[in-house]
Amino acid sequence: MIGIFDSGIGGLTILAEIKKAIKHNNIIYYADSINNPYGDKNDKELKIITSKIVDFFIKENIKVIVIACNTATTRCITYLREKYPNIIFIGTEPAIKVACEKNHHNILVLGTTATINSFSVNKLIKTNKRDNQNIYLEACKGLANAIETNNVSKIDDILKKHMSKYENIDSIVLGCTHYPYIKDKIKKYYPKAKVYDSSKGVAKELKRKLLENNILINDGKQKVTIIKNA
Ligand code: DGL
Repeated sequence: MIGIFDSGIGGLTILAEIKKAIKHNNIIYYADSINNPYGDKNDKELKIITSKIVDFFIKENIKVIVIACNTATTRCITYLREKYPNIIFIGTEPAIKVACEKNHHNILVLGTTATINSFSVNKLIKTNKRDNQNIYLEACKGLANAIETNNVSKIDDILKKHMSKYENIDSIVLGCTHYPYIKDKIKKYYPKAKVYDSSKGVAKELKRKLLENNILINDGKQKVTIIKNA
């Protein structure tokens, strides 16, 4: 059984790709909506919240956990791996590496405040950015929560604030799993830009880990259970 979690509906964008790649292992998806937004919380709060979810999964006898959330991954995955050495964690990070490899020149990375200011994002840029590339970071405070609560006017206001100030953006990295829901709105600001999210990469990495550990199931009907903590 595989556990997947996020601060609400965002990680369902990851679940959709996982279901395409992994057809038989059972899945529990935990939507931690009551604690949304993760992106405005500090590391101490995030460590407590994510540990509670991991403890819940362990009670369900789950040994493989997908953190379908950039914020929880960039802020807590190292901590969780140390705290739970017997659990296999697969994280979600902004697809900065992929965008850099594709030779774009002006890359706009959108994410929560916690993700954008994280050491992990800084490291991803240091490791992957080429000399001829510019990477712009935008912490879209409130956006994930506006998507979670389907507050359309708030979504539009936040996008206007963060998306209007650039020129020549040729690629956009959706560094929050809630953002694919509003991909079309985001694209309107830079219609020619290529948009990247992390869902395919996470599904691929999960499959690799299941194979490596001999726990990829090849037959039987898959059961997907969605639990909402609201
Ligand atoms: N969907 C999450 C992410 O990828 C978190 C959004 C939030 O709760 O702030 O960062």
